[in-house]
Order: sequence, then C-alpha cells, then structure tokens
Amino acid sequence: PKADPAKGKVIVEQVCAACHGVDGNSVASTNPTLAGQSQSYLLQQLHNFKDGKRKDPIMMGMVAPLSDQDMANLAAYFSEQKVKPRDATDKTQLALGKEIYRVGVASTKVPACMSCHGPAGKGLPEKYPRLGSQHAAYIVKQLHDYKLGEMRSNAIMADIAKRMSDAEMKAVAEYISGL
Ligand code: HEM
Ligand code: HEM
Repeated sequence: PKADPAKGKVIVEQVCAACHGVDGNSVASTNPTLAGQSQSYLLQQLHNFKDGKRKDPIMMGMVAPLSDQDMANLAAYFSEQKVKPRDATDKTQLALGKEIYRVGVASTKVPACMSCHGPAGKGLPEKYPRLGSQHAAYIVKQLHDYKLGEMRSNAIMADIAKRMSDAEMKAVAEYISGL
C-alpha cells in the first residue's frame, strides 16, 4: 500500500519524538533533525539500520519491530515536516567551513560539498541528502563513521572523509549547521 504519513505520525508520537522531535526537528545535537529530508533517503537509512548495513545500537533497536510499511509511513511523515533554520553555535571556524563547503580543499582533493549537497544545503531528492540546519555534532560523527567505515559505508563519502582532518570536519559541520 501507499505510504501513509498519518499512520507514521502515530509511531512518531509514541517512539521517535523523544529523540527526533514530533516535527522532526531534534533538540539534542547528537540526534539528527529529520524534517525536510527526502522520503527516499530516510527510507533507505531505516532499511540500512534494519539490515545492519548502518550500525547504530539505538537505531537498530528502534527499527527492529517496524515493518516495511511502518518504515515507509515514517519516511513519508518526516519528509513532509518543515526544517527549522538554526544558527551555527561555534562561529570561530566559519570562514574555513565555508571555503570547504563551497570550494573544497585543492591540496588534498576534497571536493566542494556544494556540488552534491547544493549551494543552500538542500541536497537533491533521490540522490543526495539534505545537510542544511543539521546539528554540527551529528555531522562530525557521520564524517568520522564514513572515514572509519565500520558504522557506515558509502564509497563517495568514505573517500571524501578520509581526506579530511578533524579540524576540517568540525569547521565544515559548523558552517552546514547554519545553512
Ligand atoms: C538516526 C529515524 C527513533 C536516536 C536516525 C535516522 C533516521 C531515524 C531516518 C538517520 C538520519 C540521517 O541519516 O540523516 C527514526 C525513527 C524513529 C527513531 C523513524 C522511531 C521509530 C529514535 C529514538 C532515538 C533515536 C527514540 C533516541 C533514543 C537516533 C540517533 C541517530 C538516529 C542517535 C544517529 C545515528 C548515527 O549516528 O548513525 N533515526 N529514529 N532515534 N536516531 Fe533515530
Ligand atoms: C551523505 C557531508 C561532499 C554525496 C553525507 C552526510 C554528510 C555529508 C554529513 C550524511 C548525512 C546524514 O546522515 O543525514 C559532506 C561534506 C562534504 C560532502 C561535509 C564535503 C566535504 C559530497 C559530495 C558528494 C556527496 C561531493 C557527491 C559526489 C553524498 C551521498 C550521501 C552523502 C551520496 C549519502 C550516503 C549514504 O547513503 O550514506 N554527506 N558531503 N557528498 N553525501 Fe556528502
């Protein structure tokens, strides 16, 4: 059956809202904001947690009892929520972060994030996730996870993360959080 966001909302209120917010805008910086993310990306990540392709002890537990239809309903619900714009919390490295996001790092061949995730961080539905207004701490963790390749694997992002220093990751994450 077709994805039903109203049915997704029932599960959100009982389970997901505690960490991701009832409208998909999370408060704690380690929990990702899901609002405004594309339906296909959200659904893929839920399947990845379920199949163990993406490893996170909390989320693997969360998806265990969910059916494919539940996950489709949840992805539909969160994709319809509006993301709340936020300001970067640490503004000291914004110039470096902006440079990485918009231009890249020539010496280490880090490509401009903008080329896939978009000039305003909106991503490209069906292809590249939205990053704009995401929590910096969450972004830094994902870049580390791609770099190490144990928790999360993706060929494109692993190659990019391996070229980045911790300081570059932190700077670009802060810039993205204010996009
Ligand atoms: C990550 C959905 C419940 C904590 C995610 C992601 C999705 C998701 C789609 C990946 C986001 C991305 O890649 O941008 C859901 C749904 C839930 C739920 C549908 C309810 C059924 C919870 C709860 C908690 C939680 C209750 C806290 C106890 C987290 C954390 C991450 C995450 C910490 C990041 C994992 C990582 O670092 O890889 N969730 N979530 N989630 N969620 Fe949930
Ligand atoms: C995913 C950051 C450049 C393609 C992600 C995620 C982050 C990120 C944090 C995870 C999003 C989430 O969990 O919600 C960055 C940064 C970049 C960059 C900081 C620049 C330094 C690029 C480029 C491409 C790309 C240039 C395309 C050639 C992707 C794809 C995913 C992704 C396909 C989804 C991977 C998956 O399913 O796990 N990126 N990105 N990114 N990015 Fe990038």
